[in-house]
Amino acid sequence: MRNPRHEGTRTVRRAERLRREIEEHNYRYYVLDDPAISDAEYDALFRELQELERAQPELAAADSPTQRVGAAPAAAFAEVAHPMPMLSLENAFDEEDLRAFDRRVSERLGHENVTYAAELKLDGLAVSIVYRQGQLERAATRGDGSSGEDVTANIRTIRSVPLRLRSHQAPAILEVRGEVIIRRADFAGLNRTQAEAGRKTFANPRNAAAGSLRQLDARITAGRPLSFLAYGLGAGSEAAPGRSQSQLPAWLRKLGMPVTPLAERVSGADGCIDYYRRIGSRRAQLPFDIDGVVFKVDSFSEQEQLGSVTRAPRWAIATKYPPEEARTRVVAIEVQVGRTGALTPVARLEPVLVGGVTVTNATLHNESEVLRKDVRAGDTVNVRRAGDVIPEITGVVGELRVPGAPAFVMPVTCPECGSPVERTAGEAVARCGGGLHCPAQAIQSILHFAGRRAMDIDKLGDKLVEQLFERGLVRNVADLYSLGAGTLAELDRMGPKSAQNILAALERSKQSRLERFLFALGIRDVGEATAAALAAHFGSLDRVQNATVEQLLEVPDVGPVVAGRVHEFMRDRRNREIIGRLIAAGIRWPVPANGVGPGALDGKIFVLTGTLSGMSRDAARALLEARGARVSGSVSGRTDYVVAGLNPGTKLERAHALGVTVLDKQKLLELLR
Ligand code: IVH
Repeated sequence: MRNPRHEGTRTVRRAERLRREIEEHNYRYYVLDDPAISDAEYDALFRELQELERAQPELAAADSPTQRVGAAPAAAFAEVAHPMPMLSLENAFDEEDLRAFDRRVSERLGHENVTYAAELKLDGLAVSIVYRQGQLERAATRGDGSSGEDVTANIRTIRSVPLRLRSHQAPAILEVRGEVIIRRADFAGLNRTQAEAGRKTFANPRNAAAGSLRQLDARITAGRPLSFLAYGLGAGSEAAPGRSQSQLPAWLRKLGMPVTPLAERVSGADGCIDYYRRIGSRRAQLPFDIDGVVFKVDSFSEQEQLGSVTRAPRWAIATKYPPEEARTRVVAIEVQVGRTGALTPVARLEPVLVGGVTVTNATLHNESEVLRKDVRAGDTVNVRRAGDVIPEITGVVGELRVPGAPAFVMPVTCPECGSPVERTAGEAVARCGGGLHCPAQAIQSILHFAGRRAMDIDKLGDKLVEQLFERGLVRNVADLYSLGAGTLAELDRMGPKSAQNILAALERSKQSRLERFLFALGIRDVGEATAAALAAHFGSLDRVQNATVEQLLEVPDVGPVVAGRVHEFMRDRRNREIIGRLIAAGIRWPVPANGVGPGALDGKIFVLTGTLSGMSRDAARALLEARGARVSGSVSGRTDYVVAGLNPGTKLERAHALGVTVLDKQKLLELLR
């Protein structure tokens, strides 16, 4: 007979084991950036723990990783006094200010060549997180520096914040300080989701982070992509080994805290200025916004010697970069038609320099977004540009509006072809219903086909494609391969030489790859990664064309929407005819030896790190494994390749140290071919 008591203790033990395992995986993912298991395996562990806790609610300890969903809404935030005041930083606005700071520090300390810890100044919200006996007890915003708001429930929802510290080296009370931020990629995703759901978009990651953290209903916070990065200590700092700022990150990481990357030790004003310039040149490529860099006298005893003035320490200074936001005027709001017919309002701007780049256009996403922001032609607006993200209007300067300026209205017919504009229920986008009869859609789809990542037809630019289309010489992608030298040479801005170049490029493009060809076709929602997955799974065009929806669903990362789109595209008579003409024109690709093509990477060991845009880790793993490769969680001497995406971590450093070949997503896709 089963003994219910034993059954119970077994469950308790299993739950505790699962918790430790999940914490370990969180740590590897968020702090070490070295996950050992796939997202699916992680989810399975998580679900098992949730089920055990559901069956026996008394098992669900407050520090269980399942307890991050957010508590019920509070009426107001309680006030929390900081155990040690949270100081702010004095600002330097140029290199001269920085030299003056270093001179003051040197004079007070009585020596030159002071060593500084140089760090990024994250543009988010400062928070203090107190751990008591290793358990997260209380988290608070900075507030006025002496007391802030109790945001414990909200901070608990951030996955990268450990609910308990990993090491017993921590003192009984330890206060970790750092910044709550939203990464740029997460911010773009959040705004996309907000716009699609018809909700308000955020002006910048900082505002989004602040708005998300300061939610009385922590369940809303739980749905926002917040990250935390630690940069210092409050109470309990005397326990830190090494007694210097530059040694903090390593210790914090041991305790399980994610830390601000790219910190360095530098010497004197020259070292600071060099760091400021180096980070400045990389600023656009960072995965998150920074508004400057911070220099802190490295030695804790020297920090104590220097002390503080009213609200800022004498031992630290922030050096700012120019803002990534500027003010300009909207000349007009135009509506662009994309390859899939989506109508996107675009603001044409008076050229303005933002973060070192001239901006002339800003996307407005969709109609509801324009109406919500209430942007009108003639308005004075603030424009933000960060990294490679498309510039956005963050707000209208209301006082400067020209009286009587008319509000924006979305056209009811396509501005390019006059077809009626269609709206799908539940979608914020309006689309031109003209399909490939719409010149804009046809031209965009030809340009997509010719693109570098598709058929890579060199020199086939937009001006030329427009001309070819308007003269009726090219109506679809198959027509490209019937062009003759004579016809091309007679076009505007063309001659015999450039005509020959285009023909040569067309000829070269015929030697292609199945995945490139599938991507080039421009099937809605089929990006490069999906095209690669389809090619790897089916191995031949024929099999993709004849696959049923069920068979398509077997491809990693292909869901019902994409499966439906591929199926519909391939069944369309016109599409089949165009594909037939392309193949007849001589487009071909190497056929894998055994049909599907596994084995090409037999026995090779891969490690994945960072985010590959448009490709989940599971999909990358499936593609590699289909070729006989093995995917491992950590870099060693046996690793053949490290695939590094956006925001890679220590694995990339280790790869460089061990001389392992590093691939980006593009190189990975090439290798998979
Ligand atoms: S140290 C006394 N380090 O900047 C030290 N602050 O103006 C005070 N910040 O409220 C903070 N990155 O929100 C420090 N690496 C960094 C930082 C940083 C961003 C923010 C923080 C603070 C503000 C001070």
